[in-house]
Amino acid sequence: MSAKRGWNTISKAYQKNVKISLEDIHYGPISPGERDLKLLGNVEGKDVLEMGCGGGQNAIVLAKWGAKSAGVDISEEQIKHARNLAQQQNIEVPFHVGSMEKMEMFSDEIFDIVLSSCAIGYSEDYEQTFREAFRVLRKNGLFVFCVVHPIANRGRTVKRGKRKLWGLGNYFDRRRRTWTWKYDDTTIAKFDGYHRTLQDYFNSIVSAGFIIERILEPEPYPLNKMTDEEKRMIPYYWKGSEREYDVWRRIPYTLLFKTRKP
Ligand SMILES: C[S@@+](CC[C@H](N)C(=O)[O-])C[C@H]1O[C@@H](n2cnc3c(N)ncnc32)[C@H](O)[C@@H]1O
Repeated sequence: MSAKRGWNTISKAYQKNVKISLEDIHYGPISPGERDLKLLGNVEGKDVLEMGCGGGQNAIVLAKWGAKSAGVDISEEQIKHARNLAQQQNIEVPFHVGSMEKMEMFSDEIFDIVLSSCAIGYSEDYEQTFREAFRVLRKNGLFVFCVVHPIANRGRTVKRGKRKLWGLGNYFDRRRRTWTWKYDDTTIAKFDGYHRTLQDYFNSIVSAGFIIERILEPEPYPLNKMTDEEKRMIPYYWKGSEREYDVWRRIPYTLLFKTRKP
């Protein structure tokens, strides 16, 4: 099933269930955000695009921090949420419905920063997506993105006695898989799942013309040592993170790239 159809189905339930900050940029579930990782630098006055902007939270934060931000997402429902949220926050952000693989609404070299958080993993032609990011960036522009780490993407929790471990099936199996996301009896969506290894991401980014400045595998927040008040400050939080924490604290869940157009 296409990402567009899947996200249109799941959007309402998803936005209700996850807690995404409107004060910090997030880089995936229970991962440190921009305030900790400082990858974007000062965004004030900069033209910034979020590709696969979903419900618009990151683009809204960027606008609050003084950027001229914009968002693009393939799902009409996600964009509807983004527009409503921006209105509620009294923030103006142009949100566009469209694919990050072909961003016809943007001409060449108009952004200083392109950001993408947890979205490129859904792109069928991720190499084309990297080329599009390159095209719309100005010279010396930053492209920062995160995806589900390939280790997390191709594994699952397995029980060994009382211990929960991460079982990796086949890291090298790049075949497309259809998977089901079920929130309740009526909110069920099927998605096409893609798997790219670290090598695939690295080489495709370089082939698109970018220079890779940093790769990060951030350790998650120590949920077991945090108060409820502290957990409320986590940029991206959902209840399931708590349930899976004992496993997630031992594997990289988020893979982050900081790259630059020369
Ligand atoms: C996990 S959500 C992340 C949304 C947002 N970046 C966030 O972090 O909250 C993934 C998003 O990618 C969008 N998406 C998937 N494929 C896309 C494509 N080819 N072009 C643009 N957006 C896409 C989905 O519609 C969905 O909103």
